[in-house]
Amino acid sequence: MDNATRLQYLEAMGIDVWLPKADNLLAPNVIAESADNWEVLQAEVAPCTRCNLCNTRTQTVFGSGNKNADWMIVGEAPGQSEDRQGLPFVGKAGQLLTEMLRAIDLDREQVFITNVVKCRPPDNREPKPIEVETCKTYLLRQHALIKPKIILALGHVAALALLNTDEPIAELRGKIHTLNDTPVVVTYHPAHLLRSLLDKHKAWADLKFAMQIIRNHQR
Ligand code: URA
Repeated sequence: MDNATRLQYLEAMGIDVWLPKADNLLAPNVIAESADNWEVLQAEVAPCTRCNLCNTRTQTVFGSGNKNADWMIVGEAPGQSEDRQGLPFVGKAGQLLTEMLRAIDLDREQVFITNVVKCRPPDNREPKPIEVETCKTYLLRQHALIKPKIILALGHVAALALLNTDEPIAELRGKIHTLNDTPVVVTYHPAHLLRSLLDKHKAWADLKFAMQIIRNHQR
């Protein structure tokens, strides 16, 4: 029985499945010592069946952009358009993200854009904790390969996965968090901004805050 089917049965039976923490599985020194590279990682992600999301996705959405980027942008999970096209943030929220990046003089091709989970959850529901934990190893390996100067976490699922905190976005904004020494800035998810225009100016402040961190880093 494959792992995804086993997890599905256990879940249906109401049995909690405990997985080793992704960060423990792949501590940065372990990654550095192993021969991880983009080809290996992409070849692992494309046919992944580690969780149930593989049963309903069209394809995995690995991420796109510059693999040597200064900026790593992390969203929640692919939606319908992303699942169809195999690319992150190509729907309405993606258009807003593109505009937000343009506002700080960045093209999508200059940054690396990915999600916490690489497969679309059915009906765009929020990814379950077990799906996040299972997929997080891929995210951490992407981070270790890119070595960005900054990570922009979009929304609470990204913040939770990257920082292991359940605090609301309002509490996490405006502070420098870290993931393995990389500064992490938290802001609202573009899908939230499409619904809540009042928070757009806060997201703009967050982007300026992130730019300032990069500038200070370059001095
Ligand atoms: N929302 C996300 O979090 N990621 C995408 O790729 C698209 C929408």
